Amino acid sequence: MSEAVAIAHPNIALTKYWGKRAGAGRLPAVPSLSVTLAGLATRTRVRFDHALARDRLVLNGSPVEGEAEARAVDLLDRVRAASGEVRFAEVESRNDFPTASGLASSASGFAALALAAARAGGLSWETRRVSDLARRSSVSAARSLFGGYVELDAGPPGDLATDFLAARPIASASHMPLAVLVCVTSEGPKAVGSTAGMQTTLRESPYAEAWLSHAPRLHARLREALLSRDFAAVGALAESSALAMHASAIAAGVVYWTGATLDVLAAVRGLRSAGVLAFATIDAGPHVKILVRPQDAAHAKAAAVAVPGVKRVIEASIGEGARLETPGMSEGTGTS
Ligand code: DP6
Repeated sequence: MSEAVAIAHPNIALTKYWGKRAGAGRLPAVPSLSVTLAGLATRTRVRFDHALARDRLVLNGSPVEGEAEARAVDLLDRVRAASGEVRFAEVESRNDFPTASGLASSASGFAALALAAARAGGLSWETRRVSDLARRSSVSAARSLFGGYVELDAGPPGDLATDFLAARPIASASHMPLAVLVCVTSEGPKAVGSTAGMQTTLRESPYAEAWLSHAPRLHARLREALLSRDFAAVGALAESSALAMHASAIAAGVVYWTGATLDVLAAVRGLRSAGVLAFATIDAGPHVKILVRPQDAAHAKAAAVAVPGVKRVIEASIGEGARLETPGMSEGTGTS
């Protein structure tokens, strides 16, 4: 088969990956734990074709260029090397959510690309192998291959570009239901991408060492709280992870927050004072994602919409892992 279509969803990290191991391996320096989101998707078609003189990539109708193109071509090269495929590929990808929504489109994008390219190249890899392939293009993408709650270990220390590292599912969506309210605070593209932001943090922040030693402890505690379905502890630890990540970044001059970010954080604290279990997490941008139990989502959404700097709120629940689409039927990769 030389053509395949895959669908993948973005994920939100509850414990953040921020920082890579030294070397060329794109290995995370800290473990992370995420939820894959339902209702938002990237759909990617990959077709290897003799008629092409180079790889052609189109995202949302526009050609992909620069760094994103180089990363995608690297992924295609890995698939060609593993499969013996010699043709170039045409890649068409579309997000059904706005790219500037504050949701990591690179996670769903590289997860869908890895799955579609592996299948189009004739590789019948198990999901963890596809997760490792996606991780080599964008670390957070490794987690979007799986549904529910997903964990990714830190990479081993050292310059081990050949090391295998895949994410793994640790709990299903029904284990601990959760709603994620994405509070979009600005529509423009972010000033500093996550790859550059984390590099600067590790190089220049006086708190880089503190982050690297604290993050695994937060991760272990959140994992434990999740396995015992302690929503309040999971929420509090997720908020701590985001605040610690941003504190280390801010100390290096990497400031993603705006006034609206702080206003949403204040609204989340207000909800907690009123007895609602609401917690905040923030990725490499100004938007805040509010974590609540599904029964509190409407109440929390009303509070978020009332914050002047919030342009809109996207409500998401926990979703499935990446899957292949075949004409007339779909094949799930499941959560295990
Ligand atoms: C803040 O996975 O986008 O969203 O590996 O350089 O592509 P690269 O970075 P990326 O970083 C995501 C950072 C984060 C936290 C997280 O998703 O764990």
